[in-house]
Amino acid sequence: MLSEKTKLYIDLKGEEECILRNCLEQYFFRMQKGKKRDTKNTIILSVTKNNKKHKISPERYTLSVTPQTVLIQATSGAGLFYGIQTLCQLAQPLANGFSIASTEIEDEPRFAYRGFMLDVSRHFFSKEFVKKQIDALAFYKINRLHLHLTDAAGWRVEIKKYPLLTDFAAWRTEGKWKKWWNGDRKYLYFNDPKAAGGYYTQDDIREIVDYAREHYITVIPEIEMPAHSEEVLAAYPQLSCVGEPYKNADFCIGNEETFEFLEGVLTEIMELFPSEYIHIGGDEAGKAAWKECPKCLRRMKEEQLTNVDELQSYLIHRIELFLNAHGRKLLGWDEILQGGLAPNATVMSWRGEQGGISAVQSGHQAIMTPGKYCYFDAYQDAPHTQPEAIGGYLPLKKVYDYNPIPDSLSAKQANLIRGVQANLWTEYVSEPSHVEYMIYPRLLALAEVAWSQPERKSWNDFYQRALQAVDNLKSRGYHPFDLKKEIGSRPEATHPISHLALDKKVIYHAPYHNAYPAKGDITLTDGIRGDWTYTDGAWQGFISPKRLDITIDMETEMNIQTITADFMQVTGAEIYLPASVVISISSDGNIFTELMRKDYEVDLQQPIRLKTIKWKGSASARYIRYQACATKQHRGWIFTDEIIVQ
Ligand code: ACM
Repeated sequence: MLSEKTKLYIDLKGEEECILRNCLEQYFFRMQKGKKRDTKNTIILSVTKNNKKHKISPERYTLSVTPQTVLIQATSGAGLFYGIQTLCQLAQPLANGFSIASTEIEDEPRFAYRGFMLDVSRHFFSKEFVKKQIDALAFYKINRLHLHLTDAAGWRVEIKKYPLLTDFAAWRTEGKWKKWWNGDRKYLYFNDPKAAGGYYTQDDIREIVDYAREHYITVIPEIEMPAHSEEVLAAYPQLSCVGEPYKNADFCIGNEETFEFLEGVLTEIMELFPSEYIHIGGDEAGKAAWKECPKCLRRMKEEQLTNVDELQSYLIHRIELFLNAHGRKLLGWDEILQGGLAPNATVMSWRGEQGGISAVQSGHQAIMTPGKYCYFDAYQDAPHTQPEAIGGYLPLKKVYDYNPIPDSLSAKQANLIRGVQANLWTEYVSEPSHVEYMIYPRLLALAEVAWSQPERKSWNDFYQRALQAVDNLKSRGYHPFDLKKEIGSRPEATHPISHLALDKKVIYHAPYHNAYPAKGDITLTDGIRGDWTYTDGAWQGFISPKRLDITIDMETEMNIQTITADFMQVTGAEIYLPASVVISISSDGNIFTELMRKDYEVDLQQPIRLKTIKWKGSASARYIRYQACATKQHRGWIFTDEIIVQ
């Protein structure tokens, strides 16, 4: 039993003693100072020597709870801190204190890097809000907070040498990203009455970094280069290839001033952030302007670079030298592999796992954050029940089941996977409570992926704990997704369907698109229907003007009563429900008669929805032709998963 009479002894001096005492006292209550030899009603935090031969993780701890004492041992303050988090998680509140069941725990993390990324560019979030999330991250033993500080949508950190970054590039014409992105995409001076945005002052950053350190969290800043930099190039257009604002998204790599700028920014960033890693972005460069730019072409000639991938790689190498010279390491999205990876760089693998695999195969370190498992901007439940998200479907269980070490890696390569990270991009997330809704409880699943060995994981056990954690988070003022109301997978996707056209040959009069083949020619008659996302390998995609136009060969003439197909609309991805459907039948494959011809009103206000289109009647046929078109104005995609004949 912990009560106000419980004493606390900490075997550390100075700041760490304060940090650990505060941490316990904030969760429980004030405690008197105890002594090392106290044996009754005492919590003892004890630092043990590290083994010189078999170095153990500084984050490892043991926790022993008996009726008389709580003893936490570790080789560092971090280990003691994680022992405290476990103690807090085990404590059951009572009227006059807390009870903790007797236990003996030995625990250590699977990965040294356990990360979460927050995009504060698309929408800006206050330092108080960031600190509130740090409390929760630490409670679940996440130890890296990656801040996506710069992007087209706004620059979010004060840089004394370049004041326009925060006087201008941090402010835009619309508060909501979607309205701004679909509108003029312009920036405003901070003192314009219409200016929407914000940034962290250098004092704010120091406050966040200090607060994180007191929670054993390292804050990693991301400064985007060479792309995602429209806001910088609007403020300092001389750094772009064209030299005018609102023309380019990529820095001009031929211009020495670009390097002066980037190094000037990074110098102040390194003063503010003591992290080992500095994240330099590196993703999604368009590269087109470089091909036409005399300065970039001259650079390529002088440096004997044969293509624009190598030009990008030139920039990354140079920035890496600069960071390394200041004792820091370069971290970047997996596109930094293009044109040759810089010698000491660490790769953050987001477009799947291949970037991470390639990196460790060449002896580099990698952090896994593949979109399919780690992008928390996807829907966490049936999309029609959720606030608009960017698309996709990433329920809690899918996060939980992720294993950041691909099977194909050797033990040595696996050791180069430093860890795993979840990312929240905020294009569709403007409110602080919505951020929390998107990250909790999925971040708890990621935290367990990052901390626990796979053989110690159990979905059923985790799920029960997650239900409780949601209540616990709510009682502490967070706004998690209400897990107990989860609808889960699309019911049709959970079991195969048998029907008359099952496994029958499909003739494509117009091809499916090679980016969305699903399972190829068998997809529409394989009995497998898709889940809430069109990228799950069960939905097949067709792009206008080619549209969906297929014939199913039933092999023999048969009686048919229904023909049913489901279509998906995701307006953000330009996928629309059909505006017209024609179904025809034939006995010989030559002469077809129409069973149905129908036009539909397509409601473009619905960002995501599914629709079943069904013909019902009585007919006899061997061949069934199915045609579906998008609207004339909105050409876009058509997606379906199965043509069901009964
Ligand atoms: C990214 O999602 N562009 C890293």
